[in-house]
Amino acid sequence: MEKALSLYSDAFHCSVMTTLRTYPPQWATLRILAITWFLIQVPLGLWGTYRSHDLWLVPVTPASVSVQVPHSSPTLDIARQELVTGWTGSKGSSLVLQLVQQKDLGPDGYRLERDAIQANTELGLMYGAFDLLRRQRTGQPVHGVVSRPAYTLRILNHWDNPDGSVERGYAGRSLFWRGMADLAVTPADRTLWREYARANASVGINATVLNNVNASPEVLSPGMLQRAAAVAEELRPYGIRVFLSINFSSPVRLGKLGTSDPLDERVRTWWAERVREIYRLIPDFGGFLVKANSEGLPGPQDFGRTHADGANMLADALKPFGGLVMWRAFVYQPTETDRAKQAYQEFMPLDGKFRDNVIIQVKNGPVDFQPREPFSPLFGALKLTRVMPELQITQEYLGHSFQLVFLAPMWEEFLQSDTYQQGPGSTVARCTDGSLSGHAFSAIAGVANAGTDENWCGYSFGQANWYAFGRLAWDPGLKSREIAGEWLRLSFQHLRTSVPVPLSVKQWERRFAAPALQIMLRSREAAVQYMMPLGLHHLFAGNHHYGPGPWWAPPGTREDWTPRYYHKADTLGIGFDRSFTGSRAVEQYQEPLRSLYARPETCPEELLLWFHHLPWTYRMKSGATLWEELCRQYDSGVREVAGFRTLWEGVKPYADPVVFAEVQQVLGRQQADAQAWKDACIQYFARYSRMPVPEGVSAPVYALDALMKADMRTLNQ
Ligand code: GCU
Repeated sequence: MEKALSLYSDAFHCSVMTTLRTYPPQWATLRILAITWFLIQVPLGLWGTYRSHDLWLVPVTPASVSVQVPHSSPTLDIARQELVTGWTGSKGSSLVLQLVQQKDLGPDGYRLERDAIQANTELGLMYGAFDLLRRQRTGQPVHGVVSRPAYTLRILNHWDNPDGSVERGYAGRSLFWRGMADLAVTPADRTLWREYARANASVGINATVLNNVNASPEVLSPGMLQRAAAVAEELRPYGIRVFLSINFSSPVRLGKLGTSDPLDERVRTWWAERVREIYRLIPDFGGFLVKANSEGLPGPQDFGRTHADGANMLADALKPFGGLVMWRAFVYQPTETDRAKQAYQEFMPLDGKFRDNVIIQVKNGPVDFQPREPFSPLFGALKLTRVMPELQITQEYLGHSFQLVFLAPMWEEFLQSDTYQQGPGSTVARCTDGSLSGHAFSAIAGVANAGTDENWCGYSFGQANWYAFGRLAWDPGLKSREIAGEWLRLSFQHLRTSVPVPLSVKQWERRFAAPALQIMLRSREAAVQYMMPLGLHHLFAGNHHYGPGPWWAPPGTREDWTPRYYHKADTLGIGFDRSFTGSRAVEQYQEPLRSLYARPETCPEELLLWFHHLPWTYRMKSGATLWEELCRQYDSGVREVAGFRTLWEGVKPYADPVVFAEVQQVLGRQQADAQAWKDACIQYFARYSRMPVPEGVSAPVYALDALMKADMRTLNQ
């Protein structure tokens, strides 16, 4: 592929040069102009060849710049090298990287001055260098800028297994593991890890968990620890700390102790020894991520202990080394209690009982990374305990890597949700980044979407979600539009296209960036509409979480793992009653949200069926019945994807041909999938509503019976 691309670019150069040579003499002026253009553009590197592996770090032919660093070190050498090889500012500039002592910059912040980058630390200078280059390429101001990250720890969670598979990964195999029999570290591994580190550092990500939360005890075996140490070595100069997920019953399964009880002295000693061993290999090891007593995994409750007992035992072992415990609140049991309420119920009584090096990692919504959920009520409610958001970058519930969905709008909606913890303006971002609590450190995690695929993320626009996570972790106040705009410019503006005359920046913005931006910004809402509008959730056909299956319930499946548990459609209506007449989950929110969510008339319509079971004839704000509105939303989702396809066809001349063809294919499948979602859900729910599909909603393409028998993953492959 890459070879084909470079042939394409060479052919392009040749044809232009031949044309120039064969023009008649009276066209001399044009020739001079064209040659001048080449001389200007090529040295600026504005016509690169698309290589998906470069992510948003497209190589350029740099202008000359002299960069002075205070001393040589691995991190400063990276900063210097990035500036020298990526400079697109004025030719012949000089830049000084200065270590200063300015409290307002914190450990990772920086100041960009006319001829200088200033920071308190080497890492701050490196982040400043990456930001300066981004600003040059995206046409933003390059001096008079002060920036420091909102969250102390900006961390990726890889759900990678020791055998190299990736849970909910749609982009190839693990970047870190290849199996227990293949733990040797190769030069190619090291190169890949450095590329990975560079990509993360360029957007401010400073930590990573190398293995799945469904952790194998093997992660603490000497072989895996040595490999983790090699990863850490490559990541260290980029300021990225390594963490590991652990299995709570490791003392039994690996240590051959008779128990993993967190209050047992032998168990505590066993963990303390493991931790010492890890720090011998990885002196800046970050700590543990723990999924315990969740989805069948072991935990402290197996011994009659609490989450706090379990977390504190590990925290005590890590404390002398400055390590952290990220303890997950993703817990629920197959009980009578509404699943959405359970994490709150388990964790609220423990508020204030955790050590200060424990942070509770909470998924954005109370259920599980659905296309739309309200924020988890634990945000804002836990006041004495550190809490960090967990977002999902990999598109487990949003079309894997087969549908184009830009997730920043969803994260923006979540981070800016008001919890009312300390009155209006207590957004989730402010409750978790330390601004309201004053906690010394804060964190935010994203479940990674990167794997060994050449393009890292399964499809090119998937890279935008990785990029967006990093940018929002640095500054949760950023708007999705700014992030998408930046990413498009960085990734595509400097690439060769098939137009014979180069576009001006304005033309490129209008003809390529604007339509692409529109697709990106609308894509999440479109996915909500064609999958599960109006607050519906978890309507998937099977554990693959890909296609529609509101009927899905193989015999013996846990009820809370079937869609019917969530939509509760019957002849009377549809939706999960979480109001005061139902599960009372609304009680977990602070006022005024509690009252707002509790009544259908005041509940935001996009969350209506999350909180209420309503008659099919319920009148929506538009005057339509609930049934009509539901059908229209599904239809509008499908139409929107059709619109994306039209928009994308229009960018063809201005897009790199490889990117164009790939996105064209993704959108084609997405439209067929959207159609399947709409046809499945409308026809299935019609069996209960017994109402006609309203006028204007397009006729189904797929028959319900066929959809019920199909494997949704391969239906439109
Ligand atoms: C979801 C996901 C699992 C994952 C779990 C978790 O349920 O489907 O694959 O293990 O979340 O976050 O722990």
